[in-house]
Amino acid sequence: MQEISDLSIELVYLMSDTSLKTIENQIIHQDIFDAAPYLPIGFAELLVLDPPYNLSKNYNGYLFKEKEKSEYQEWFAGVVRLVKPMLKPTATVYVCSDWRTSVLIAPILEKEFRIQNRITWEREKGRGAKSNWKNNTEDIWFCTVSEQYRFNLDAVKLKRKVIAPYRTEDGRPKDWQAEAGGNFRLTHPSNIWTDITIPFWSMPENTKHPTQKPEKLIAKLVLASSNPGEMVLDPFLGSGTTAVVAKKLGRRFVGVEINQEYCCWALKRLAIAQEYPSIQGYADGVFWERNTLSAQPKDKKPSVAQTELFL
Ligand SMILES: C[S@@+](CC[C@H](N)C(=O)[O-])C[C@H]1O[C@@H](n2cnc3c(N)ncnc32)[C@H](O)[C@@H]1O
Repeated sequence: MQEISDLSIELVYLMSDTSLKTIENQIIHQDIFDAAPYLPIGFAELLVLDPPYNLSKNYNGYLFKEKEKSEYQEWFAGVVRLVKPMLKPTATVYVCSDWRTSVLIAPILEKEFRIQNRITWEREKGRGAKSNWKNNTEDIWFCTVSEQYRFNLDAVKLKRKVIAPYRTEDGRPKDWQAEAGGNFRLTHPSNIWTDITIPFWSMPENTKHPTQKPEKLIAKLVLASSNPGEMVLDPFLGSGTTAVVAKKLGRRFVGVEINQEYCCWALKRLAIAQEYPSIQGYADGVFWERNTLSAQPKDKKPSVAQTELFL
């Protein structure tokens, strides 16, 4: 607990209009509804919105209660109205949700932004159901403020193992390369993501946050839709994944989180990122599909999972 109170000195709390310089690469420990009126206008190139889904969930003592559908929609529309002024005209917005929440937020996103796509992420973990299909996916809505936006395709290609390596008539590999770890092809990333697991106990990035997003997933969003040095905003920062990934990939960030302990976990993760800037599953400038670990270049990794950091 002493560590939490020591670290919390580094957190920011807003009580009046603030400049970008004051909040750049900072974590704001505050309710986004209270902090947003003081944030600058038009500074973010990328918004990662990972709000509480419409489910009852205990975020370390802060209970988000499942709401009536219309009530959740009102709450979510309020969040969007708050954060939209902070976006640049060329900005991209990614919104995470489960399938139930997705249905509720889609009309709001349609009204406020240009929806470009909906990514389906196979989470690889979910509780089996007796009379339903196991819930194993999440949605990530890809929206933009206007039709002028960036998409860095080459930064998010997927490196896949080639099972049946096809050769041209003169014997040359067709769209694949032979490497030490096997035969690989770089493919265009689609809107179904099957190469990312949720952080689990043995992964160094894992914390005790109940809905922590994987660094690899956020890295795809950051690389596709921002350039180095640009500003990434996350108003529901949780354990700090967006801030950590932004830092590792040379972007600037602003994060807001209501829970003090989570803010401190994020600070701690940022300090670790300084020494260990690698992102599991992203190496040599490409995303690797699952089960290719032995072929991936070896990075320096922290020896303990971050769950061990705060007891
Ligand atoms: C779905 S989680 C985000 C998880 C995050 N992406 C990560 O990787 O750790 C939502 C977070 O929003 C926080 N939160 C809920 N209401 C909030 C509010 N009004 N203002 C700021 N943060 C809030 C919760 O404490 C929780 O950590």
